[in-house]
Order: sequence, then C-alpha cells, then structure tokens
Amino acid sequence: MSIYNITFSPTGGTQRVSDCLCSAAGEEFIQIDLTDRAFDPSAIALSENDLCVVSVPSFAGRVPKTAAQRISLLKGNGAKAALVAVYGNRAYEDTLIELKTLLSESGFRCIAAVAAIAEHSMLRQYAAGRPDTQDMAELQQFGRKIAEIAASDSLPADLYVPGNIPYRAIGAFLKPIVADSCLSCGVCSDMCPVGAIPQDHPGETMLDQCISCMRCISVCPSGARMLDPATMEAVNGRLGPLLSGYKKNELFI
Ligand SMILES: Cc1cc2nc3c(=O)[nH]c(=O)nc-3n(C[C@H](O)[C@H](O)[C@H](O)COP(=O)(O)O)c2cc1C
Ligand code: SF4
Ligand code: SF4
Repeated sequence: MSIYNITFSPTGGTQRVSDCLCSAAGEEFIQIDLTDRAFDPSAIALSENDLCVVSVPSFAGRVPKTAAQRISLLKGNGAKAALVAVYGNRAYEDTLIELKTLLSESGFRCIAAVAAIAEHSMLRQYAAGRPDTQDMAELQQFGRKIAEIAASDSLPADLYVPGNIPYRAIGAFLKPIVADSCLSCGVCSDMCPVGAIPQDHPGETMLDQCISCMRCISVCPSGARMLDPATMEAVNGRLGPLLSGYKKNELFI
C-alpha cells in the first residue's frame, strides 16, 4: 500500500495537519501539492491498494473552488481516501460532504474523515499556534486508526460525514491589497496557486482570478501584501465571537 498526502494548503495549516496524519499512518508517503498550478492531478496513477489522505482548508464552510476543480481531475481507480477538512475555529459546515462527493465521483472509496483546527489564515489571532502539541498527539491517533481501517477487509459501505446538500452558498471573499513597501521580488506571483498576480506587475492582483487564499500575504517578505485593515477590523467585530473558544478535532469512521 502506498500512502499519498494530497493537499491544498495555501498558508501551511492544512499541510501540518495532513503531514501529521500521514506520518502516523505509515513510514513513508508521497506528497502531492494541489496548489502547484503547473501540476496535472490526472497524471497520478492510483490503484485500489493505495491510501490517499486528501486535505483541504474550509473556505466559507466549503472546499475552495480551485481545490475542488483539481480534486475532480484525480483518477481514484478504487483507491481508499481519508478526507480532511481543516478550519480556523469557526465551522467547516459542508466541507467534508462536498469533499466526499468530489472523491466518490472521482472513483475513490471514502473510508474515514477528519475535521481539524488550524490557525485562521485571515484572522490569525484565532486558533493561533494550532495544531498544537495536544492536537498533534490526537491527529497521530487518528492517522494510526485510518491506516488500520485501510489495511482491514471491512471498509465502511457509506461513510457518514456531517454537512448538507445542496451546499451552502458562498459570498464574496476579501482580496489582498499591496502597500508601497512592495520590493517587486515576484515571490507572490510565483507562489499564487491560480496565477492571479502578474509577474511583471506584482503590485497588482487580477481580482476576477484571485481565490482569496492568503498565500501571497503569508509569503511576502516585506509585509506589503495585506487585507485592508479597516475592513478587517469590521470583519473581526462580526466574526470574532464565532471564532473564539477551543474547538476539538473530530474523526469519522
Ligand atoms: C477565504 C477564507 C475563508 C475561510 N472560511 C472559513 C470558515 O468558513 N470557517 C473557518 O473555521 N475557517 C475559515 N477560514 C480559515 C481557514 O479554513 C483555516 O485558517 C485553514 O487552516 C487555512 O488553511 P491553510 O493554512 O492550509 O491555508 C477561511 C480562510 C479563508 C482564507
Ligand atoms: S512578495 Fe511582496 S514584496 Fe515581493 S512582489 Fe509580492 S508584494 Fe511585492
Ligand atoms: S492573489 Fe489571491 S489567489 Fe493569489 S495568492 Fe493572493 S490571495 Fe491567493
């Protein structure tokens, strides 16, 4: 059995969760980065012996649209899938059920699902430092359990995950702005998962292409990319109460 760690992680939280699950599930795993816009997901040759841990962040309680498009290009060929939704301490709503539908339609057998917390990538003061040591220990247990199920003869006939169909509607997301401190280094342009930042004008953002994933903000060496501070203050006032408190990781088997 080969283990594939298939992730869409613009700012690294989803990756940390998924790495922890995969390293507990087996000694070695193959990394597939769905934020790499040059990569063709249909090129991966999977078989029914393989286990794929497929991890996405929750954006407005849904699978980010670019992740959904790239996951639908995978050819499962009966491979076993563990679904992972990583969220910033508010809620993941329809993320797991959407992920389950996408993977089932792509020919995977869904055997387990995880909802896990990581630092909020827009409002970084919430769930700061998570996954923490306690989360990691719990995720390791989940990873070992997932490997056990994958190796057994009795896979779930129809895995239960929470969520609703039709999925919740998505409104407009905030887009980054660029300050004068931009060094024109081009790092943000190279690393944008959808190519929304022109290489020759990295101070701009093609707003119709941007998926508000926050990667450019997290990789900018000069702090020039940001969300509008006044808008963020208003968002914090509205969402803050929903993002507070300690939410727990969950395993569905
Ligand atoms: C556009 C956007 C929408 C988000 N929506 C939600 C949400 O609905 N619920 C939530 O708890 N966290 C939400 N988050 C936070 C992310 O799910 C969370 O920070 C996740 O760990 C980000 O993954 P990454 O670090 O792999 O990019 C959102 C973040 C962004 C950028
Ligand atoms: S990463 Fe930051 S400094 Fe570099 S081009 Fe982009 S906005 Fe400018
Ligand atoms: S421009 Fe938009 S899509 Fe590209 S990295 Fe920045 S937030 Fe993400």
